[in-house]
Amino acid sequence: MGDNPYQDDHGNKDLSLGNPKGAGTLDTTAKSGKTHPAPGEPFLIGSHMTGGYGKSGPDILHDCTIAVEKGEIAVIVGPNGAGKSTAMKATFGMLNLREGHVILDGEDITKLTPQARVGKGMGFVPQTSNIFTSMSVEENLEMGAFIRTDDFRSTMEQVYELFPILREKRHQAAGELSGGQRQQVAVGRALMTQPKVLLLDEPTAGVSPIVMDELFDRIIEVARTGISILMVEQNAKQALEIADKAYVLVQGRNGHTGTGKQLLADPEVRASFLGG
Ligand SMILES: Nc1ncnc2c1ncn2[C@@H]1O[C@H](COP(=O)(O)OP(=O)(O)OP(=O)(O)O)[C@@H](O)[C@H]1O
Ligand SMILES: [Mg+2]
Repeated sequence: MGDNPYQDDHGNKDLSLGNPKGAGTLDTTAKSGKTHPAPGEPFLIGSHMTGGYGKSGPDILHDCTIAVEKGEIAVIVGPNGAGKSTAMKATFGMLNLREGHVILDGEDITKLTPQARVGKGMGFVPQTSNIFTSMSVEENLEMGAFIRTDDFRSTMEQVYELFPILREKRHQAAGELSGGQRQQVAVGRALMTQPKVLLLDEPTAGVSPIVMDELFDRIIEVARTGISILMVEQNAKQALEIADKAYVLVQGRNGHTGTGKQLLADPEVRASFLGG
């Protein structure tokens, strides 16, 4: 294990999907001319974001802030249409923000395209259309590695270790897989760029409770390698149980913010979002 270049200090010992250049260390001194975070500033923060779709669309987000620390899991919950996906898209650069900033590892990336953000270490799994259904599982993973010019086979091997069923089905069209397996393809695809932070929009949508638990276990495993996870979840209670930090969004605004435990214990959150 010791000679594995992907291993880092945060990792458990049997999985190492991290980015060797970034995932294992908080040292940001390698970059020059960047705005570095004040000590304690989150690894990724979409800060005070206001904006909507298109040039003249109404604002969907209103002074909305979401963030995640290094190697932690932050969860966003809230009612349908609250702007959870919009907040994720804004953080990934798919929305023109009228106000606010996105800071990754101390660098202001507000003006960068989504593709440039992938280059900076962001991976994004959108809520819908997150795999190429007519391509094989392995081709999906290869597509995920699109920005890489080096040999990505060891990363693919790590994805197969994380999700063994994908190895078994690697030559099958991704569209033929079950819902849970498709989500594994989507997460695996995003891991192929060796992200430092992974944005997951409803990774357990449409899967059974057992498959949801398994997916959560795998997501925890990924976080333990030092990769930060910012995730939208409709299974609010279960997601809050594994969340280091959690946000309830309501109508494009921050409703409640706290640790997962705090929100689980908050009577108002319980009554409004967790079914009492
Ligand atoms: N591409 C788009 N163009 C214009 N408006 C959009 C677009 N996508 C979403 N919206 C609007 O933005 C608002 C927030 O939608 P969003 O998809 O972010 O909510 P959500 O919290 O992710 O909901 P869900 O739980 O259903 O996934 C909604 O009013 C929606 O109609
Ligand atoms: Mg959504």
